[in-house]
Amino acid sequence: MKGKQIMLLVGAVLTLCLLTIVNLGAQEKNSYEGVAVCGMCHKSAKQGEQLKIWQGSKHAQAFKTLQTAEAKEIAKKQGLTGDPEKEEACLRCHATGHNVDAALLGKKFSIEDGVQCETCHGPGSGYKSMKVMKDQKASIAAGLIVHGDNMGEYCATCHNAESPTYKEFDTAARWEEIKHPVPK
Ligand code: HEC
Ligand code: HEC
Ligand code: HEC
Ligand code: HEC
Repeated sequence: MKGKQIMLLVGAVLTLCLLTIVNLGAQEKNSYEGVAVCGMCHKSAKQGEQLKIWQGSKHAQAFKTLQTAEAKEIAKKQGLTGDPEKEEACLRCHATGHNVDAALLGKKFSIEDGVQCETCHGPGSGYKSMKVMKDQKASIAAGLIVHGDNMGEYCATCHNAESPTYKEFDTAARWEEIKHPVPK
């Protein structure tokens, strides 16, 4: 009896330690700020109107697409019983933030924004300040992701045959449709 109680106590202490370590880890991670935050600085003509370009792209609709009758039909065919907008099997390519600790989602973040800036550029709490953003090296060190030559591989993490509606994907042509450069 006594031995069992000691074991339980040791188990409880170990669990507490583990929870503390997990928590400390989470505090160092960047959180997702949401399009509204990125858009504040990325909407002027001088900056390149990234906000407007994204709003006009299908990526902005990717979550809402999961709420359509067509999506429900696709989910049913895959044997899914729940709503597609709640299924990991669909959300993993159609949204950001579904499998993220709520503490790592900023006040302005909304899952309804689908495939958003930070889906592709990484969670922005560490790099969103003007001081950091103006310095590309510092931004990358603080979590900004730029893809460069690996862009095709990156797009293909979602644009691939695991998509139930997959259409062949020509990276260069598709990039033309959504590119959002800073004017030189
Ligand atoms: C306080 C204003 C501000 C906010 C907020 C902001 N940015 Fe920026 N960002 C800038 C400026 C200024 C630059 C530098 C633009 C240039 O090249 O002249 C920049 C550059 C960038 C670049 C290009 C980096 C490179 O050098 O290739 C990316 C990508 C980017 N921002 C994404 C984001 C994302 C995603 C968010 C939201 C999490 C965000 N930014 C929020 C001001 C901001
Ligand atoms: C996180 C997953 C994800 C990544 C990464 C991604 N996309 Fe998409 N993309 C989607 C989804 C989901 C849709 C469909 C949205 C809808 O129709 O609601 C889409 C749609 C598009 C469309 C519109 C296609 C059409 O048939 O009208 C283009 C263009 C596109 N993506 C280009 C790109 C490019 C270029 C890249 C890489 C720089 C990229 N995407 C990376 C998920 C992604
Ligand atoms: C589907 C993925 C995707 C989404 C969504 C996306 N970007 Fe980008 N963005 C890219 C890629 C790819 C590049 C090209 C540079 C690189 O290789 O990362 C880029 C480049 C940029 C640049 C640098 C342009 C230059 O000329 O140097 C800025 C600034 C930027 N994005 C901001 C944003 C902002 C702000 C949003 C949201 C409103 C956004 N992006 C949404 C993939 C994306
Ligand atoms: C591997 C990534 C991926 C997964 C998983 C995924 N999708 Fe998509 N979805 C996409 C992409 C990318 C597109 C853009 C069209 C294309 O090339 O497939 C898209 C487009 C769509 C469209 C728009 C139809 C069209 O022709 O453009 C619907 C509806 C949709 N998906 C529903 C779903 C549902 C429901 C699930 C879950 C059962 C799901 N998707 C899972 C990536 C994915």
